[in-house]
Amino acid sequence: MPKVLISDSMSNVAQKIFEKNKISVDVKIGLSEEEIVKIIPGYDGMVVRSATKVTKKIILAGKKLKAIARAGAGVDNIDVPAAKESNMIVMNTPGGNSNATAEHALALIMSLLRKIPFANETTHKGKWEKKNIKGIELSKKTLGIIGFGNVGARLSNLVKGFDMNILVNSKSLESRKKNYPHVKNVSFDELISNSDIISFHCKATKDGMPLIAKDHYKKMKPTAYIVNTARGNIVDEKDLNDALNENLISGAALDVYSKEPANENILFNNPKVILSPHIAASTKEASIIVAEMAANQISNFLLKGTKINTV
Ligand code: MLT
Repeated sequence: MPKVLISDSMSNVAQKIFEKNKISVDVKIGLSEEEIVKIIPGYDGMVVRSATKVTKKIILAGKKLKAIARAGAGVDNIDVPAAKESNMIVMNTPGGNSNATAEHALALIMSLLRKIPFANETTHKGKWEKKNIKGIELSKKTLGIIGFGNVGARLSNLVKGFDMNILVNSKSLESRKKNYPHVKNVSFDELISNSDIISFHCKATKDGMPLIAKDHYKKMKPTAYIVNTARGNIVDEKDLNDALNENLISGAALDVYSKEPANENILFNNPKVILSPHIAASTKEASIIVAEMAANQISNFLLKGTKINTV
């Protein structure tokens, strides 16, 4: 009987799927690298979310390990090249949390434009800041979406009712263009210069260099807002902080950080910034879908050799 280790907290639907498929499953959360190295030789498959860092050391110790599934989209917590060298497959669950992430991006956009966190905090304190809070409407504004995979495309569909102009910067859109007549694919510079809100939905760059740095802010509208729910290293945080302090743009909302968990960050306490702790994909619905996808994919691979969503 194949054996699988679930090493991060996730919906128990994953465990149930393995049991139904007669795959032996252990759920062991919060183990250190050393602890995983000790037990991993006993497993054929592994399911993680983002907390477990699947390092080369773990991969080399996994003598029987054939497949690692990430219940989520990003695989930056897995040493994919090392897994490939050891003939292991790595799978993710694309699309499983796209709606959750797109909805969170939209929530952050609305929060920025209507100053909801400030309104909430001051009203709770008995201050009546009515005169100091003037929102901005989405209608007739331009939304710039950088990266047009599952999340970017979903966001473009979610905002259809707002009567916005939507610009996209995507290498892959051309072949799918007929499905998205409501967006216009433009160059990166055209997008950042013309958008009122710029939302990132692309992968982190391979070399880890930020996509957006100091000089880019000079090309943006001083009224522009940026939103990042993709990966922290896409936006250089110091440059963003400087741009906000120099009034090169109006505000920003971030769900992801260069270093997570973000216990300290240059953007903390900047009043022009709204922050959330990497929760864009954390909904009841998405956590079930990604656990289900990961468990089914590992089961199908271990029992039938079927490879789905390999990266
Ligand atoms: C993902 O990559 O799926 C999201 O960022 C959510 C997560 O990391 O848990």
